[in-house]
Amino acid sequence: MAQQYPEWIWQNGEIKPWKEATTHVMSHALHYGSSVFEGIRSYTTPDGAAIFRLTDHLHRLYQSARIYDMVLPHTADELAAACRDVIKKNELGAAYLRPVAYRGLGGFGLSAETPIDVAVAAWPMGPYLGAEALENGIDACVSSWQRFAPNTIPAGAKAGGNYLSGQLIAREARRLGFGEGIALASTGLLSEGAGENLFLVFDGVLHTTPASASILAGITRDTLKTLAREDGIEVVERDIPREYLYLADEILMCGTAAEITPIRSVDGKQVGAGKAGRVTRRLQELFFGLFDGRTNDRWGWLEPV
Ligand SMILES: Cc1ncc(COP(=O)(O)O)c(C=O)c1O
Repeated sequence: MAQQYPEWIWQNGEIKPWKEATTHVMSHALHYGSSVFEGIRSYTTPDGAAIFRLTDHLHRLYQSARIYDMVLPHTADELAAACRDVIKKNELGAAYLRPVAYRGLGGFGLSAETPIDVAVAAWPMGPYLGAEALENGIDACVSSWQRFAPNTIPAGAKAGGNYLSGQLIAREARRLGFGEGIALASTGLLSEGAGENLFLVFDGVLHTTPASASILAGITRDTLKTLAREDGIEVVERDIPREYLYLADEILMCGTAAEITPIRSVDGKQVGAGKAGRVTRRLQELFFGLFDGRTNDRWGWLEPV
């Protein structure tokens, strides 16, 4: 089915029709990957539509920009307003938001000081890996592509160019019939999924890979760490060797797009009982409970549209 686009988009300070949000083919970002972006979800809640951890996502956007010496021509408050406006203008409730800042037209050299263009799009999006995946889990594989080493490209910046790595991992996995690919870091230890962080469960304890494993420090990962600890589930961040994927009681992937997706097999080997385990189910309950009122949002994560 052809992709349906929303009617309105925000670009460089104004809401305009989707089809008018164009950029020049010689824009720096198109050639060199010089963009930074966020993926944010809004949810419908009993108190109306709310953007999940908007402030934290925008904070990460500015941090990503700082790493690449990009100075955004808008404040975080202005971008937060843009996020709200684009949801309202498109009459969306639950949506996926995509703020992006990129080096535009203004020089062809790698270190050119171009203008920084900014856009915010919003569109309806269901579960990234499929609704069925949230319930029954996905079959994952370890990618033949490694993540970039920490002294090559900073994984902690959510920059456009990083997603060449993600594309190789995701496309290889899909080509081979898997739902998603898991990458090893340049150390040979576990890193993360193509666009998701990883949690493994051993004896009821959650284990997740550390920042030094070339991961993007996910906001969903942070959310799950907080919800789990609050619920009395221990969480440890540690180096994890590949074979632990074949020994874990449960594995899940998490991210704004993937939300909390159980992994039922890795490389054709069944994980635990081959379906979402007890800890994964509990985390799903707590996480999705934030949006239907079952989990009290003590942290102010739900930011009203
Ligand atoms: C490479 C990568 N890792 C992890 C994540 C999860 O991050 P978050 O939970 O902030 O969406 C994402 C998603 O943006 C990602 O692209």
